[in-house]
Amino acid sequence: MNMELLQSLETGNISTWMVLGVLITFSIIEIGFGFLKQSQRSKDDWTLEIISFITLSLLVKPLVLGITLFLCAAVIPDTEQALAWIPFGWACLMYLLTDDLIQYFYHRGAHAHPFFWKLHRAHHQAEEMGFFVSYRNAALYYLLMPNVWWLGLVVFWGGAGPAALGLVIKQAIIISSHSRVTWDAPFYRHKLLRPLIRLLERIFITPAFHHAHHGQSKADGVSNPNGNFGNLFSIWDQLFGSAHFPRSFPVAYGLPQATHDRWHAAYLYPLAASSDPKSELSRGFKKHNTTSSKPSRQQVEAGKTYLWCSCGLSQNQPFCDGSHHGTGHQPVVYVAQKDANLSFCHCKHTGKPPFCDNSHLTAK
Ligand code: FES
Repeated sequence: MNMELLQSLETGNISTWMVLGVLITFSIIEIGFGFLKQSQRSKDDWTLEIISFITLSLLVKPLVLGITLFLCAAVIPDTEQALAWIPFGWACLMYLLTDDLIQYFYHRGAHAHPFFWKLHRAHHQAEEMGFFVSYRNAALYYLLMPNVWWLGLVVFWGGAGPAALGLVIKQAIIISSHSRVTWDAPFYRHKLLRPLIRLLERIFITPAFHHAHHGQSKADGVSNPNGNFGNLFSIWDQLFGSAHFPRSFPVAYGLPQATHDRWHAAYLYPLAASSDPKSELSRGFKKHNTTSSKPSRQQVEAGKTYLWCSCGLSQNQPFCDGSHHGTGHQPVVYVAQKDANLSFCHCKHTGKPPFCDNSHLTAK
């Protein structure tokens, strides 16, 4: 490996220290606000978050970076330093945009694909937000994350400096958007500040935007657990139709179905498994189709919000119980206009969700 690449790796190390600096800053602020004292996190939560952060920084990233550099030197040696001519600022912006677009699709895919959902599930199991929630994922989730491989490629092409700065910016926004230090909250409350936050949130991920992604249920009118996938920029969510801009914060975080998974089951999946039979991470766990060929009559109350299950997996038909996670489906929100006895679709073939349109009579 030549001198330039070694210097590149050194630059990467500096960015790791800077990210650690951001993390320590947020932890001090959270401690200062007393959030850590109020925390209900279990020992397993802390263990998972700390181990995940340490192994990502000291093991997964250096390993993937090393493999990428080795492969690039063997397969595409002529392209080494190919991007080194690009001015620093432009190279940093280009790195951030491509990195964020890649991560948007990886993250979105993790919510739609059952296997990747299980690798990402621990991140959403957290019932409270906080700076360390940023790093709750299975080891394999990080190992397969295309961004880490992309980083190696950029370093090989001579973009280590811009990528290192980009990493610090990205991590600062990711940590701030997970933190309980919701710096944007006053902007929603005060009329004069609102235009500023409305502009900012159209470009960058704010705490409110990302907290909505961690909200437990769409029924609160704030949460958007099957959207708001962005990490740094909100532009991808706007472009690909998954953005929801809330004006407040969710009433509850985490997953509707609480399970008791030890830290190693979440972190080492699929090598380890949960001993909780209700957990998706337990061996042999299966989601069952609970559709029926008959509509479901339900009494609804005026003004109340209902989430209709569109995936057919809920144990609480015709309503959603959160089983859709990892399927790509999401519930349909229905707000009752008046007290009524209604016929909800139970076969999931209706053309007029959430109501029955007699499609069950013709559906095969
Ligand atoms: S369980 Fe939520 S859409 Fe089916």
